[in-house]
Amino acid sequence: MIRRWIRRRFRWLLPEGRLEVLPGATQAAGEVFLVGAGPGDPDLLTVKALRLLGKADVVLHDRLVSEPIMNLINERAQVIHVGKERSNHSVPQERINEMLVEYARAGNCVVRLKGGDPFIFGRGGEEIETLAEQGVRFQVVPGITAASGCSSYAGIPLTHRDYAQSVRFITGHLQNNTANLPWQDFVQNRQTLVFYMGLVGLPIIAEQLVAHGMSSDMPVALVSRGTTPEQAVVTGTLETIAAKVEDSGVRAPTVIIVGEVVQLRSRLKWMEPGTASPVE
Ligand SMILES: C[S@@+](CC[C@H](N)C(=O)[O-])C[C@H]1O[C@@H](n2cnc3c(N)ncnc32)[C@H](O)[C@@H]1O
Repeated sequence: MIRRWIRRRFRWLLPEGRLEVLPGATQAAGEVFLVGAGPGDPDLLTVKALRLLGKADVVLHDRLVSEPIMNLINERAQVIHVGKERSNHSVPQERINEMLVEYARAGNCVVRLKGGDPFIFGRGGEEIETLAEQGVRFQVVPGITAASGCSSYAGIPLTHRDYAQSVRFITGHLQNNTANLPWQDFVQNRQTLVFYMGLVGLPIIAEQLVAHGMSSDMPVALVSRGTTPEQAVVTGTLETIAAKVEDSGVRAPTVIIVGEVVQLRSRLKWMEPGTASPVE
């Protein structure tokens, strides 16, 4: 126990190239696992993700990974927060990429834990590009993306034979509050739109969709903190949603679902407020 603590505490004093393989590291070269943690409910983790949290030597995690999931990380692991907030990057992306390389080269089983799915608005591709360039072994473990988790827990099927034959995931993070997105493509019939990172830009998103021809009566749902016990859903239309959301006081993270499918929620909602992980 004491030997292990000393080894971990002073590992950075060892000359480069001589960093020790921590207990539990599976191979001398180390490996990085880019793992999706899903939107919040720990029961939505994949079995592979859960197994990796049990054996990781180092976990670098984002801000949006929920506390119950963080509690599943083994006690031996070194846990490092590298999360980003709107306009506040606690660790620059380049440094995160370097840290992954360094920890893996030191022989560790490194888990890069990200909210949702690492390949959807998660910069996961950039991180493994660096690993590929540097010859570091890696695997990608998909997670349930916020659109899937939130729509399921809100009782809104994203496609439905009667209402929508396609679905688009869109970033609602508008650069300098300008709506530089291909709005014309978004206003086709029988399509569901899911905006990530759209809470701040919601009034502009609603305004632009109407300006490009979508009916102002189009149903909209905003899902806040989906799949967690704090999940809240605000429904309205393109005309009413911005004011309703402002009145509700709901907080990020949120996804915004736009389309006829939203009306199904009145019949299909199943999650009771204040609950999550309904499987005992
Ligand atoms: C940087 S993106 C990461 C998306 C993530 N990779 C995924 O696949 O869900 C962060 C955005 O995901 C959405 N998000 C993540 N978790 C959420 C949750 N539990 N409820 C609602 N939206 C969520 C929000 O739009 C948030 O601003």
